[in-house]
Amino acid sequence: MLHSQVLVALVSLATSFAAASAQNLVISNDDGWATAQIRAQFDALTGAGYDVVLSAPAINQSGKGSQTTTPQVLTEPCQFDTCPVGSPPFGFNASDPRLNYVNAYPVDAANYGINVLSLSPQHFGARPDFLVSGPNIGPNVDILTQYSGTVGAASAASLQGVPATAFSGVSGAQVSYTTLTSEPDANSTLAARIYSQLTVYFVDTLLGSCGPPVLPPAVIVNVNYPSITDCDDPSDYKWVFARNRKNDTVVDVQTCGSDHLPSEVEVILSEGCYASVSAISAQTKTDVDAATQGVVMQKLLGLPFSCLN
Ligand SMILES: *[C@@H]1O[C@H](CO)[C@@H](O)[C@H](O)[C@H]1NC(C)=O
Ligand SMILES: *[C@@H]1O[C@H](CO)[C@@H](O)[C@H](O)[C@H]1NC(C)=O
Ligand SMILES: *[C@@H]1O[C@H](CO)[C@@H](O)[C@H](O)[C@H]1NC(C)=O
Ligand SMILES: *[C@@H]1O[C@H](CO)[C@@H](O)[C@H](O)[C@H]1NC(C)=O
Repeated sequence: MLHSQVLVALVSLATSFAAASAQNLVISNDDGWATAQIRAQFDALTGAGYDVVLSAPAINQSGKGSQTTTPQVLTEPCQFDTCPVGSPPFGFNASDPRLNYVNAYPVDAANYGINVLSLSPQHFGARPDFLVSGPNIGPNVDILTQYSGTVGAASAASLQGVPATAFSGVSGAQVSYTTLTSEPDANSTLAARIYSQLTVYFVDTLLGSCGPPVLPPAVIVNVNYPSITDCDDPSDYKWVFARNRKNDTVVDVQTCGSDHLPSEVEVILSEGCYASVSAISAQTKTDVDAATQGVVMQKLLGLPFSCLN
């Protein structure tokens, strides 16, 4: 073969490997399966070429952390009347079986997505390559990661060997997915659209970087998006590597000319549309050591990262 033919063959081989791996995603949240934000995120990931199964709580289950329970028959309607009282503990949209609810906590919904739906031949027939948790309505910074069902769901995935990231945004509201079309100019719709595009970009970057593993074992990434006020275009946003809790005594990975990372709170409150990206333990839900921060940072260099002004 000519050199150029070898090159073409190698490039197409590499491309087909990239296309064949890391394509199957589960998306979960804690705000509920019918909220605008998770449906916008499902649509954006699907539109970007991922195969996605949504598995999320039947109703709002914010603040449930890593709690688990046995899914129950619905004693109230699903969120926004999306299923009647008496519906089964697990259900799906009859016109689109990729959209599933679980009447239990966020961790239960993530587990069902990973261990039942993904494995089903109707979906992937295999474990998912990645779990997207959120974006949550409202930030999950500092101590809030301890109580967050969004972080809980991502952590549960990670502890089972499925790499995961928790996404949260300051703006938005727990409103029905129907408002994405009925109220296209509402702030909740704009937030859902902007954060969804940012999340697709993040997932493309992470899954497209050299791996495996996508992330170190039992480590998740915690991403927080700032308010969309004055940040109304996804191209306005910059990514800053951060730590979950402010702690000036700890030595972090060296970046931006310092070995002390800014905290998530500092990042999302800084003027300039900064999103925080931190590496946290799926067990403690707070900061990992500097060496592990470095491994996660390397995986995400393509974002690329910015420094806080
Ligand atoms: C969802 O649940 C959380 C935690 O209980 C609560 O603070 C929030 O107000 C609920 N959201 C709605 C729309 O009721
Ligand atoms: C179910 O899917 C159909 C088709 O995509 C959509 O029109 C409908 O709003 C969905 N309902 C729910 C509750 O997801
Ligand atoms: C959307 O948010 C902006 C800025 O925060 C605010 O000025 C505006 O009133 C909001 N619009 C609606 C429809 O709530
Ligand atoms: C800072 O980190 C050190 C070492 O891990 C820990 O002992 C200390 O409690 C932390 N301080 C705060 C305020 O979290």
